[in-house]
Amino acid sequence: MTVVPPDTSSARRAFPPGFAWGTATAAYQIEGAVAEDGRTPSIWDTFSHTPGTIDGGDTGDTAVDHYHRFREDVRMMADLGLTSYRFSLAWPRIQPNGRGPASERGLDFYRALTDELLAHGITPVATLYHWDLPQELETPAIGAGAAGGGWPARDTAYRFADYTALAAEALGDRVSTWITLNEPWCSAFLGYGSGVHAPGRTDPGDALRAAHHLNLGHGLAVGALRAALPASAKVSVSLNLHVVRPLTDGPEDLEAARRIDAVGNRVWTGPILRGRYDEDLLKDTAHLVDWDSLVHDGDLAEISRPIDLLGLNYYNPTVVSAAPADAGGRPREDGHGSSTFSPWPGADSVAFHRANDDVTAMGWPIDPTGLSDALLSMHREFGLPLIVSENGAAFPDTVAADGSVHDPERTDYLRRHLDAVADAIDGGADVRGYYLWSLLDNFEWAYGYDKRFGIVRVDYDTLVRTPKSSAHWYSEVIRRGGLA
Ligand code: FCB
Repeated sequence: MTVVPPDTSSARRAFPPGFAWGTATAAYQIEGAVAEDGRTPSIWDTFSHTPGTIDGGDTGDTAVDHYHRFREDVRMMADLGLTSYRFSLAWPRIQPNGRGPASERGLDFYRALTDELLAHGITPVATLYHWDLPQELETPAIGAGAAGGGWPARDTAYRFADYTALAAEALGDRVSTWITLNEPWCSAFLGYGSGVHAPGRTDPGDALRAAHHLNLGHGLAVGALRAALPASAKVSVSLNLHVVRPLTDGPEDLEAARRIDAVGNRVWTGPILRGRYDEDLLKDTAHLVDWDSLVHDGDLAEISRPIDLLGLNYYNPTVVSAAPADAGGRPREDGHGSSTFSPWPGADSVAFHRANDDVTAMGWPIDPTGLSDALLSMHREFGLPLIVSENGAAFPDTVAADGSVHDPERTDYLRRHLDAVADAIDGGADVRGYYLWSLLDNFEWAYGYDKRFGIVRVDYDTLVRTPKSSAHWYSEVIRRGGLA
């Protein structure tokens, strides 16, 4: 396949040569086929089938049936001119029940998908964990004799490393960029803190234990990837770092921002990129977990194995202040689903505010400066090459009488955020790619199918795909190699 270089002559803002123009998806959100070819349930199957957890009672049982339609989807990506595609591997498809040997039938799906991508000149980027923990590792079947306990249990980190080795051995000949975890903040703090994500547990101590074991799982997985892959392979992790802004410059609001930066950001970047948990984080959360027994000797060295690339997922900034005394101290709805339990362990004294009233269908404020700020601060702090591994917006798209879908709000969101990426590049950040969330409308976790993030519309009755006007716009950006 001949790769045609972009014609940047008409671009007002051209991106660096070789910049990856991608889209991103995740297995449970698009694949469906949850009981096919040996796949066993994940915590998201169990959670979504629990009444009251997901808007509309939706589940990922069919999702957008990508498992059966991936060839059509890849063809569509090729037609749009995408140069890269970030997807996730379903752990319970590759290693049913989360232990033991790999399932060849599960691997065959990803072999076929990656072959198809490569045949169309699209570089695959595989995420190992986008939240679909095999259910058996969360709650072992009675009598199974397994440890279980999900991410708060240390053993889960070792199981993740075993699965990573199986995936890398089987797919390492065709996937050269690997992302260990997607947004461990969500796995730990929404899954075990506020309980709005699977498995729906609500204990702040468990949420912190989950955070450490996700970090450990990441480090062990980096080791497993290095052992299985050629030296040229790139290893990364995708973090939804919070761009924390204090409401005022007053000392109490600055203190609130410090606290959220600690438990939102430095709980990941500290151990992964610096080999330490910061003292202020340990102090803020000392009443919730015994860090001395949680973090074993050698863990931090394991977790801080060098990575090649840092993935940043960005949607909106986080504005915080000290909670007024009459607010009951409890952080409220933070945009991922409402719960009376907090996803912010040790931060009961913090209140959250909307950055502005220009919001997407998720209620997430639109502020592209947060993306350039995040890229530049990661660049300055860690000097690593970066990718934007997710960015995009949900809007309630409508279908015109002629069947076309015109989504100018999404296009505007994307244009402004790509401009922000270009600003960061101008400011010196080494940004290697942009993965738009998402290729297709899909199962948006606690919100079910109601929130549409795709640049391609999916009709949920017929599963027919229709590229929206934002897809055509993105295609033009790619052809040009930049913004007009
Ligand atoms: C991120 C998730 C992704 C998607 C977007 C909208 O937090 O990683 O799966 O749901 O939000």
